[in-house]
Amino acid sequence: MRVFILYFIAFYFLISCAEKKQIESTILLPFSTQEKHRPEFHFTPDSMWMNDPNGMVFYKDTYHLFYQYYPNSTVWGPMHWGHAVSKDMVSWEHKPVALYPDEFGYIFSGSAVLDEHNTSGLGSEQNPPLVAIFTYHDPIKEKAQQIDVESQGIAYSLDNGETWEKYAKNPVLKNPGIRDFRDPKVRWFEPTQRWIMTLAAQDRIRFYSSPDLKEWSLESEFGKELGAHDGVWECPDLFPITVEGEVKTYWILIVNLNPGAPNGGSGTQYFIGHFDGHTFSSMDEKTRWADYGPDDYAGVTWSNTGDRILFMGWMSNWKYANIVPTERWRSATTIARELKLQKIDGDLVLCSLPVKEFEKMTFIVFETQNLKIDAPYNVSDEAKFKNFCYELDMQIEDQDGFKIILSNEISNEVSLAYDKEKNNFTIDRSKSGDLSFHPEFGDEIIAPRIATSSSMNLKLVADVASLEVFADDGSTVLTVIYFPDEVLNTIEIVPDKTLSISKLSLKEIKH
Ligand code: FRU
Repeated sequence: MRVFILYFIAFYFLISCAEKKQIESTILLPFSTQEKHRPEFHFTPDSMWMNDPNGMVFYKDTYHLFYQYYPNSTVWGPMHWGHAVSKDMVSWEHKPVALYPDEFGYIFSGSAVLDEHNTSGLGSEQNPPLVAIFTYHDPIKEKAQQIDVESQGIAYSLDNGETWEKYAKNPVLKNPGIRDFRDPKVRWFEPTQRWIMTLAAQDRIRFYSSPDLKEWSLESEFGKELGAHDGVWECPDLFPITVEGEVKTYWILIVNLNPGAPNGGSGTQYFIGHFDGHTFSSMDEKTRWADYGPDDYAGVTWSNTGDRILFMGWMSNWKYANIVPTERWRSATTIARELKLQKIDGDLVLCSLPVKEFEKMTFIVFETQNLKIDAPYNVSDEAKFKNFCYELDMQIEDQDGFKIILSNEISNEVSLAYDKEKNNFTIDRSKSGDLSFHPEFGDEIIAPRIATSSSMNLKLVADVASLEVFADDGSTVLTVIYFPDEVLNTIEIVPDKTLSISKLSLKEIKH
């Protein structure tokens, strides 16, 4: 009898362990076991305030991400450069602060380059320096309402980005009498053997050149007649790109703008054209937007990545960045994206999709084909999947209008609707949870769909507090953040009439 009881206890113990294991692998993480609203797989500072990604550079198998950081508060303040490193742009390791404010001011946004041939003389041929080029913002001059608040400085690292030394003769580019004069993005231009600095100056872009990163000469100014001008131009970027399979090189000029974005507040416009080492000329007069969502700002590309063009933005908007309801930290970055130039319906479009490295974090949980629906289709029920970090991929044929609703049991929801007549997308986050911090947070978000074909591919990447939508190979992109009371763990597709989905796959994202 005693033996039987022992067996029974052991058996019961094993069963309950097995049950627990099963529950653990499928259970949704309630907010009580994690920090409320903390993204699972997007980069966030461990604590305190973050805004723009800065100085992104790839060197010796490592992606460096620096970022606007204020280590003493969760609201914007005296800017430092925080630092993190990654082997794949997916998993990040936090590093000590790289740059601190000094007598010239706060350390605003900028870039970093590998000075391979030691043009700056700050390293050696054997150990070329990494050079960071950033904006000094002088709070004393700002307070005194002077114009010459911003100038450019440099710093260098001789130990693979671990530690940084400021250049002794900073600033390297003084203020010429322009109040907003910032965010240098530097790249090497081979034909003229010069470094080119793309700099935001009020609502224009200025190009400067230098042989050594220390002496800069003005080349030209761009933007008087072109683009959106409802705010200040910030965080520009300039890079060459080709359409896959073609030889012609185009140049993309990215210009972040705040305010004045299509859905209010901050946004990222871009121009397609030509750069000859001195002047950028746009190929047309169109204003194009890299992301129509309200929450992808100050995005620029990594330097030193060869043919790959890798981009990351700050997943917030200056409208409410300082007051979003997170406690120990503020803000996340977007996931890293690869940019491609594509011809879509006869026009050139800068497309972005998650970097391929992201795939190793995704695990297929459900796939189906040739699905025809004329009533709401609950993907989570079909997939028996109740998680909130996932990628949903769909190939939709001859689509009518539809809505994809992400929700939970307490009726928080975020929806993405496609209107066939208008060929546009609408994101509704008016029931997404906490909206109390800003009166416009719940406003409708509308984006034209760039492609016009009757079939559409759609990729949704959802984390605890964000949704990134990539339609038609990333030609229309929308990034939104939200703050639900509980995680959104249900996915439903609601057709306007009927919807034919030739392929659907749901992937869990595990970090
Ligand atoms: C963009 C920006 C930059 C500036 C930085 C300050 O978000 O305003 O223009 O360098 O943030 O933190």
